[in-house]
Amino acid sequence: MNDFHFYSPTWFEFGKEAERKAGELVKKFGGSKVLIHYGGGSVVRSGLLDRVKASLEAAGVGYVELGGVKPNPRSGLVYEGIELCRKEKVDFVLAVGGGSTIDSSKAIAAGVVYEGDFWDFYSGKYIEKALPVGTVLTIAAAGSEGSPDSVITNENGMFKRGATGDAIRPRFSILNPALTQTLPPYQTACGITDIMAHLYERYLTNTPEVEVTDRLIEALLMTMIHEGPRVIENPNNYEARANIMWAGMMAHNNSCGVGRSQDWNSHNIEHELSALYDCAHGAGLAVTMPAVFTYVMNHDVMRFAQVAVRVWGCSMDFQHPEVTAKAGIEALRRFLISIGMPKSFAELGAKEEDIPKLVDVLCNGDGRPGSISGFVTLNEEDCANIYRLMV
Ligand code: NZQ
Ligand code: ZN
Repeated sequence: MNDFHFYSPTWFEFGKEAERKAGELVKKFGGSKVLIHYGGGSVVRSGLLDRVKASLEAAGVGYVELGGVKPNPRSGLVYEGIELCRKEKVDFVLAVGGGSTIDSSKAIAAGVVYEGDFWDFYSGKYIEKALPVGTVLTIAAAGSEGSPDSVITNENGMFKRGATGDAIRPRFSILNPALTQTLPPYQTACGITDIMAHLYERYLTNTPEVEVTDRLIEALLMTMIHEGPRVIENPNNYEARANIMWAGMMAHNNSCGVGRSQDWNSHNIEHELSALYDCAHGAGLAVTMPAVFTYVMNHDVMRFAQVAVRVWGCSMDFQHPEVTAKAGIEALRRFLISIGMPKSFAELGAKEEDIPKLVDVLCNGDGRPGSISGFVTLNEEDCANIYRLMV
């Protein structure tokens, strides 16, 4: 296991009607004037926004609001949010929504206290300082409620990049599984896929002897395989939703990723798809993961065979471990299709003729060195081959 530091100070308030504690928690973490940031309207329609406002009012906390965050959140609204916070002297950003709203909130929080362009953070600068952020989560997916990360699409070129810093880890996150019951099945499945990707991207490591985190990841993957179909069949299954919601947080706050090298090539390859075609991140990952895993499998066949046996229940072929490894990838692919995820480029709205453009932005955009690195370093030709496997 590698040396590591792990700092995860988020206060989690989990359970039914937990959103009613929003005001109390903002106060507890020092906020007196809040920016409530939200998306395209689901929180208005469900009545959640009104409940959050009532909670802030009851606690004597002032607020301004900014809605309109789109899935795959854009830089334009971040600039608008930064201006608004400065003008209104906001000292706390409260995200009410999914990963996109949380990521946009984190970007605003970092940008308000920074003199330069907030995009510097999405070009590699570590986030040292930010306004405090809190979240009321409405979808189990991105894990941003417990992560130090934010992903934003730059409208000037339509490419998607991540920023990181412990300063943007939420001070608190409110997780009420009942809030996710209004999600359409497709969006629920996208969330399940993203959570599984966060687990796989940590499982694919070059660090030896990481049994404790291997086993944690396996347990979380098995939970998703058990609970995913139950929630697709019955969207009102609170208990299944609760297990998925907490698994989503644990999958990405890095408690099961510490002390080991990680992959993230599937995420990087997918991010160009959701930036260019505006498909859902989870849907893009459903098509990307099997292709990437098939392409890099020979780098460590035994690791793929291990997840196949321990998680997917495949039998080990000791003579031909690659057969077992492939069976595990196929089991993942079939599972994702069974919960309603797409299986090809065309289903994502992606076009084969765009592959050179995707590869160029992926490998060279924003100062990248002509390749992406992770479990395996992939050059432009590798990435083009992987995109072709998805067609
Ligand atoms: O915008 P509204 O109207 O709220 O609708 C949203 C949106 O259309 C809807 N939705 C959310 N909760 C709902 C609901 N509809 C009905 N009922 C509810 N309870 O779902 C749609 C998708 O929302 P979004 O926030 O985009 O989903 P998700 O949480 O999957 O976030 C995806 C974004 O997170 C990034 C992705 O790249 C993508 O941009 N990621 C962020 C990470 C991080 N910060 O750590 C890591 C991830 O790997 C990921 O890259
Ligand atoms: Zn993700």
